[in-house]
Amino acid sequence: MSDGKRHQYKALRGMRDVLAPESARRRLLVDSFASAVALAGYSEVVPPLVEELDVFRRVGEATDVVTKEMYDFEDRDGTRIALRPELTAGVVRAFVQHRPQVPWKVWYAGTNFRHERPQKGRYRMFDQVGVEVLGVDDPDLDVEVIALADGFFKSLGMQQVRLLVNSLGEHSDRAAYTDGLREYFEANCDSLSEASRETLKRNPLRVLDSKRPEDKVLIDTAPKVEDFLSPSAKDHFARVLEGLDSVGVTYEVAPQLVRGLDYYRRTTFEFVSDSLDAAQNAVGGGGRYDGLSEAMGGPPTDGIGFALGVDRILLACDSEGTFAAPQANVTVFVIDLTDGTHARDLTHSLRAAGISAERRFGGGSLKSQMKSADRSGARFALIVGEDEIADDSVTFRPMLGIESDGTQRRINTESITGEIRRLLEVDTEGTSK
Ligand code: HAM
Repeated sequence: MSDGKRHQYKALRGMRDVLAPESARRRLLVDSFASAVALAGYSEVVPPLVEELDVFRRVGEATDVVTKEMYDFEDRDGTRIALRPELTAGVVRAFVQHRPQVPWKVWYAGTNFRHERPQKGRYRMFDQVGVEVLGVDDPDLDVEVIALADGFFKSLGMQQVRLLVNSLGEHSDRAAYTDGLREYFEANCDSLSEASRETLKRNPLRVLDSKRPEDKVLIDTAPKVEDFLSPSAKDHFARVLEGLDSVGVTYEVAPQLVRGLDYYRRTTFEFVSDSLDAAQNAVGGGGRYDGLSEAMGGPPTDGIGFALGVDRILLACDSEGTFAAPQANVTVFVIDLTDGTHARDLTHSLRAAGISAERRFGGGSLKSQMKSADRSGARFALIVGEDEIADDSVTFRPMLGIESDGTQRRINTESITGEIRRLLEVDTEGTSK
């Protein structure tokens, strides 16, 4: 026999439950994003949460996301599958599979999994919102995409977000730059930190990401990507910067911005928040990934997009004191001083009429039920006792809004819905003035 104590389960490390009011804030964030991108002609795409492992391998064999952090396993039928670590790979796979008309402009919101070392702002399960566009080479599209993300941060009231932009050049420029960096770092290997020497073996570009103080001098004097850019990549980047200036998006050119995924070509960018710890201050990032469609077995197709980290954005909003959780108050609270029949039936008919209504289960005194009504933030209380039942009425008590200083009054049961609607309209007009 056990001692009667059951094991109490907890969410897995790096994974969190999101409860109200935080859950309401996340939903509002996604809804706001959906409205913002709809204005620019993006439609929603919902790719599966799992794909064949190889789909994600196309993201790049040299990235930590693929080599170290993937949740991959064998399906019951022996297929190697993985939980998605990001959405771009799945979206491009969907493009190749369905061949929609280009330009294909899509947005998404969804959960991703990366087996990282969890800390504040870095989780094993996290949400992103983002966009992808396939089939357009024009640098003005880069401007559109970057400006969308920039505008979204501003719409949330975030003021401490900086935009970093860079160009990694065409495929061959990037390859030449990678070779140049490898040569340079190998020649100066003794001055590199041990961790960076390891990174160098896998991906010389990522050494530039090192934040270790001992690597700083070497990184500062490393070859610069601009010296490796072809004329066409240079022209593309110049037009992007000109466009950002023209639409009023402030940026910093960051030659050492390489990003964590292998598929980037030409324009890359990242949004960092100065209100977060430097180790995970990226609230979003993206860039061009011309070549990913081919890697998935599709036609050569240009692509660009970004993903913004919902969890980190909300942390940054907390520290900036902006984008508070929306109020979740009900309109009506029904107080039943009899056997609960009226609370049951009235809440039902109010909700059917589209008016939010709440009640307390288990009855209780007028005082205790009024307390519950206060806590619910309800605008109006409807009180039903023996007296009200006798003349088919309810006592109507305004709790908030323009009538809250008025006294309570009796209203006929039949006119409840109409009366509440009328008062809600008066209140809206009153507050909109
Ligand atoms: P990423 O830079 O890997 O890019 O992720 C984008 C954002 O997701 C990051 O800036 C960060 O805010 C958030 N994020 C990433 N990992 C975590 C984590 N472990 N915990 C919390 N938040 C995290 C991509 O995912 C690319 N697919 C972006 C893209 C779209 N590029 C082109 N199109």
